[in-house]
Amino acid sequence: MKVLLIGGGGREHSLAWKIKQSPRVEKLFCAPGNAGIEQVAECVGIAVDDIDELARFAKKEQIGLTVVGPELPLTLGIVDAFQAEGLRIFGPDKNAAMLEASKAFTKELMKQKGIPSAFFSTFTDAQDATRYIKEVGAPIVVKADGLCGGKGVIVCQTVEEALDAVNLIMINEAFGNAGQKVVVEECLVGEEASFLVFTDGKHILPMPSSQDHKPVYDGDQGPNTGGMGAYSPAPVVTPEMEERVIEEVMKPTIEAMAEQGHPYRGVLYAGLMIEDDEAKVLEFNCRFGDPEAQPLLMRLKSDIVPVLEAIADGDLSGIDLEWDPRATVCVVMAAKGYPKSYKKGMEISGLDKAGEMQDTVVFHAGTKNPEGKILTDGGRVLGVTSVGDTIAEAIDLAYSAAEQIHWEGVHYRKDIGRKALEHRHKASD
Ligand code: AMP
Ligand code: GLY
Repeated sequence: MKVLLIGGGGREHSLAWKIKQSPRVEKLFCAPGNAGIEQVAECVGIAVDDIDELARFAKKEQIGLTVVGPELPLTLGIVDAFQAEGLRIFGPDKNAAMLEASKAFTKELMKQKGIPSAFFSTFTDAQDATRYIKEVGAPIVVKADGLCGGKGVIVCQTVEEALDAVNLIMINEAFGNAGQKVVVEECLVGEEASFLVFTDGKHILPMPSSQDHKPVYDGDQGPNTGGMGAYSPAPVVTPEMEERVIEEVMKPTIEAMAEQGHPYRGVLYAGLMIEDDEAKVLEFNCRFGDPEAQPLLMRLKSDIVPVLEAIADGDLSGIDLEWDPRATVCVVMAAKGYPKSYKKGMEISGLDKAGEMQDTVVFHAGTKNPEGKILTDGGRVLGVTSVGDTIAEAIDLAYSAAEQIHWEGVHYRKDIGRKALEHRHKASD
């Protein structure tokens, strides 16, 4: 079978790496891909939101399965468009992808179903939002309703900051239409974790827990990024907590979507805030996390392709997954200036040496390869991912590999996985 993967980041490199290992795949294409994906797939220069062109390509090449990485094409309705053309595709349709595309929709659904989440109010008028914020006080969180590439959430320590956030989102329209509505919600505290499941709209196959590192600097300092590193499993998600998240979050959400006539098929990702053995939902995403996909897919021992096919066909029953019990860590290496503005086109050295290290894969995110030289081509450039018998071993391996790699201005966090080690210490106190 021919497979088409859509996307060009670190998540998609890990998907391409995993899909390529399947005996079911005779040829893998990726649109648009990157310099790492190019080593396992044929990259085609079609943008992720050019749905017509992607569908034309899939038809012309007789693609047996299309796999969508990022949220943008899903929220634009790529699954609906492909299905209307009789093309087989993995991912939620436009209505189901609302779980990520509209925070107001999702908060309302969680309220109706009693799914644990922060208290909130939704506003379409800036003055009403302002009045409410003055009434309830800070700390408080202001969120643009729609997709903002991870930048539409502003955690405010003072009322003044919150009023500035409303101004930025609703009056200055910093995120365009995405900010026509805002969700103002209670500020939660605790430790964050990511919990992802495969689902066909009825059955659920959970993945192991993982944890992202959103702020740019060590110790969770500085502005939020797309994610500076991740590891799996996350000890903050105990086996009991995992059970509860499946029962109290995943099942009711998937049931609610089916009841509304929009069964959710794909990967459902819950971003959780955990405090005192209670997990509350911060957000849902309608796809694999980036960088969580890298450590998760390195732990997946089963062939991923039959799972993606079963979900695309709407029946996941009878499929089991086998996971590597060992731990994985992904350290994201970023361009100077990221998450603010950064230059592209820096030559990367040391990739071969790092790639030869045992139990390590260097996943590419923002890279390109003109004329045989690998150059930076994005903010997040690489995700160096290692597997170890313990999380400590995986951390050491990933950092030894990262140290081999260099370009002008490269930066990365030095504390990826530290929270997992702290849990281990607590447990043995
Ligand atoms: P989201 O895109 O909704 O996950 O938000 C991005 C980040 O903002 C999360 O990973 C949290 O760090 C933070 N955040 C979102 N909602 C809240 C909340 N209610 N309380 C505290 N922090 C939050
Ligand atoms: N790692 C956060 C995300 O994928 O949204």
